[in-house]
Amino acid sequence: MKKKIIIDTDPAMGTKGGDPEDCFAIMMALNSPELDILGITTVQGNVPVERGYSNAAYLLNQFKRNIPLRSGPGHTFDKKRNEERIWLSKREEMEQLTPLLKPDASTENASTFIYETCKKNSGQVELVTIGPLTNIAIALNKYPDISKHIPKITMMAGAAKIPGNITPAAEFNVWADPEAADAVFTSGIPIVMVPLDVCHQTRMSREELISIGENPHPFCQFVKQAVDPWINIRSDLISDEGLHLYDSLAMASVISSDLLTYQSAYVRTETKGKYTSGETVCEFNQSILGKISNKKPNAEIALGIDIKKFNKLFKERVSGYLKSLKI
Ligand code: RIB
Ligand code: CA
Repeated sequence: MKKKIIIDTDPAMGTKGGDPEDCFAIMMALNSPELDILGITTVQGNVPVERGYSNAAYLLNQFKRNIPLRSGPGHTFDKKRNEERIWLSKREEMEQLTPLLKPDASTENASTFIYETCKKNSGQVELVTIGPLTNIAIALNKYPDISKHIPKITMMAGAAKIPGNITPAAEFNVWADPEAADAVFTSGIPIVMVPLDVCHQTRMSREELISIGENPHPFCQFVKQAVDPWINIRSDLISDEGLHLYDSLAMASVISSDLLTYQSAYVRTETKGKYTSGETVCEFNQSILGKISNKKPNAEIALGIDIKKFNKLFKERVSGYLKSLKI
């Protein structure tokens, strides 16, 4: 039985200099017969929301897949937070490689699409979120009964026992919209959190990225054109070992259930800290107060990874697939 999913993403492959990683995760999903992708919703994060929507549309066109695509709004869940994160919706300096599309009233309703799809298939649709959680938080706010229709959310989000990546305290997807993340963690929906703790053990080598670019197929040339600037401008992330595959790991954990091992925790998102907003505070009931309060867990946190198994799946469904493309 195929697993029904909706992918919520901030895809930047197609916007020069944007993090290409979501699109590798989406490619993995598109190449996975275990999944039935009911829709893709785009969210502001790596790039402004209309860029992400355009990049996702281009990818679906390249894969010749007619999957419903909806855009979220160009702002954070919390209006006040939006004042500090407004730059996420601008970024006019980024060159757009894919045709820039403008979502209209029929396609900019990500939260409604998520609700209607999950309600229609109540209890059967898993959300896989690989960007900020804005769309999910809006859906929770607009449709209070949505929680009972969603059996699980698997999210690339947060950092449990290691520092953040966008700040010492916070991982980008949570930092970009902390209030949204906390709304999801307190929604009561079963959550699987795939944090930096395991994502940082994944790497797509520079050589692998370069070898994809050696395939003259137009789509491989597009990937090379999209990824090259990221390699150059983010050498701190890429270094010589390569690009972290955050979103692909979260997606792979949905495809192959024994890829990761988990520990239960009670997770809340810091939304008041001047220096720590976006921190995912994970209580494993091992702290002094945790032992006393014995908090009921609200998430399964991935802390162990079978890296060989992940690399094999990624090679099979993404890098190997790209290299196999023939003109
Ligand atoms: O912190 C990693 C996350 O931020 C990934 O989802 C990546 O795509 C970026 O959005
Ligand atoms: Ca992402």
